[in-house]
Amino acid sequence: MTNILFVCLGNICRSPMAEYVLRDMVQKENNSHPSHLHLPDLFIASAATSTEEIGNPVHHGTRNILRRHGIDTSGKRARQMTKKDYEEYDYLIGMDQWNIRNMLRITGGDPKKKISRLLDFTAEAGDIADPWYTGDFETTYADVTRGCQALLEYLSSNNVQ
Ligand code: 4NP
Repeated sequence: MTNILFVCLGNICRSPMAEYVLRDMVQKENNSHPSHLHLPDLFIASAATSTEEIGNPVHHGTRNILRRHGIDTSGKRARQMTKKDYEEYDYLIGMDQWNIRNMLRITGGDPKKKISRLLDFTAEAGDIADPWYTGDFETTYADVTRGCQALLEYLSSNNVQ
């Protein structure tokens, strides 16, 4: 089992989007290739660096765009990342460089090299813009999807268990 924690500032826009998009990709992959040997067994979750939105549901912008893609996020509530998450997860994946700085502050460092940025798995590394500020959930969805696809390919090709 490989445990993946997506992290953003509030845990209501970007990181829950990544959580649900990756889960959906894995489910579809498993349905189309039931005996797929290379897809690792994944546990996927998401969390915030800040306390701002703790306990709140997914932002309606993210909820709406995921609903259009047949994905339901109704059970999700925002939670803050903890130092313990660093031990429990294999990959802690932030959305932008600011998230990475805040994650490192929470964990006190990254000795096991578990912390990365989602788009750094793609050929075009960079930040995923925060739609809480930009209002542009379409661009965020495109970036998150691109990042999750690349992450899945990385995990599959590295035969991560
Ligand atoms: P997210 O967006 O980090 O993608 O969930 C934000 C949500 C809430 C806040 C900031 C960013 N906030 O400051 O409350």
